[in-house]
Amino acid sequence: MSLPENSLVDSFGRQHNNLRISVTDRCNIRCFYCMPAENVQFMAKSKLLTFEEIARFVRLMVPQGVNKLRLTGGEPLVRKDLHKLVALLAEIDGITDIGITTNGILLADQAQALYDAGLRRLNVSLDALDPVKFQEITRREGYEQVLNGIEVAQKVGFSPIKINAVAIRGMTESEIVPFGKFARESGCDVRFIEYMPLDADAAWEREKVLFASEIIDVLSRELVPLVPVGDPDPRAPSTDYQFKDGAGRIGFIPSVSQPFCEQCNRFRLTADGRLRNCLFSLEESDIKTLLRESANDEQIVAAVRESIQQKWSGHNINAADFVQPDRPMYSIGG
Ligand code: 5AD
Ligand code: SF4
Repeated sequence: MSLPENSLVDSFGRQHNNLRISVTDRCNIRCFYCMPAENVQFMAKSKLLTFEEIARFVRLMVPQGVNKLRLTGGEPLVRKDLHKLVALLAEIDGITDIGITTNGILLADQAQALYDAGLRRLNVSLDALDPVKFQEITRREGYEQVLNGIEVAQKVGFSPIKINAVAIRGMTESEIVPFGKFARESGCDVRFIEYMPLDADAAWEREKVLFASEIIDVLSRELVPLVPVGDPDPRAPSTDYQFKDGAGRIGFIPSVSQPFCEQCNRFRLTADGRLRNCLFSLEESDIKTLLRESANDEQIVAAVRESIQQKWSGHNINAADFVQPDRPMYSIGG
């Protein structure tokens, strides 16, 4: 692919074509690795970027090489009329791929409207197939709605549907085999994500990370051997496997044990209009003020290019001097 003249290439030569847009920091559950249990201070509604502001930003990013978008939260489906944003973004020339990451609780109600607006790729966050475990992790009810949401989304025609399961030592080992079976039977891909230090309570410890290699061993031993999928996408953060008999795909996002920072092509816009060049960055650029104080297009693009230029080579999770960002996951957007 030839790069556009103004492409967002950082000082390590990484081109940024993949923009993740958080549309709200609100959520209808309280996963412990992301949010505090109670009394969450959410952003004031007036601080959220409007759909028009988001669409303008995306239109400015397309000539810079952005072609992939993912909508995140908090929980994106709690943002009113989200399908209208999808429709606005889907009609932007040059955007070839729009995905969403949802917890699935409101999915059954919204799947058809989102599909009709042009959304096709769906990631559903679900860390446990055991309802008691689900409640332990999310600290809320909702298990039945999520499973129903996945079923409805399949009927509506979403493809692919990927289940994101955060892998936590001491907590989700019992879910490995059930998820393996689920991947073989449901038609959904399952992806295990290593637990990262982005929790609101700053309780993450390396000892609590359940590593991809261990999960591969368990699935290969207890179900069917896993083999790497041929011809992987070098820019995808996940390493994909399939069961040797061809039934079921399992992906891994080994963010802690094998960081994919060297291939990173992502940057993020928070719901309150801050640009983050990395999930773990400690600095942000204020795009909202530029959008609201009538900055011209060139000024906005210049701010993004400057932020991308300042991007670090990678996160430092594994270093002793690692500093966890102030924003927990729900206010960054996954
Ligand atoms: N570590 C790993 N993954 C996380 N997610 C949220 N918080 C964390 C964390 N601390 C995942 C969610 C969702 C995606 C947006 O990020 O489960 O799938
Ligand atoms: Fe909500 Fe997603 Fe955070 Fe869980 S991980 S609390 S579903 S935003």
